[in-house]
Amino acid sequence: MALYSEKVMDHFRNPRNVGVIEDADGIGEVGNARCGDIMKMYLKIEDDIIKDVKFETFGCGSAIASSSMATELIKGQPVSEAMKLTNKAVAEALDGLPDYKMHCSVLAEEAIQSALNDYEKKRSNG
Ligand code: FES
Repeated sequence: MALYSEKVMDHFRNPRNVGVIEDADGIGEVGNARCGDIMKMYLKIEDDIIKDVKFETFGCGSAIASSSMATELIKGQPVSEAMKLTNKAVAEALDGLPDYKMHCSVLAEEAIQSALNDYEKKRSNG
């Protein structure tokens, strides 16, 4: 069996939503100290809906595929749904990741959580 699913390879080769949102409503950056990979998520939110999401990932192929898939999963969703996104859901949507690469999908979950927390913080500060 191939190590990586076709979906992982597709999202690695043609990642969706790569880039920066200049006037983002929420920005989250997380890293994994062990592998040194870094992921940054930008959210544009209107009426509690994720209107746009972009990412920059300096990391392995699985991290790039995970961020790409995660952005696809939350785009157009209400904030409350995006909050519930788990790394497991990201990995499942990619048709699985090897066990030792699951932490790459955790990075995607954490980056989105961090961007949503940033959004909430900015909103409550007016
Ligand atoms: Fe670190 Fe994949 S090896 S995120």
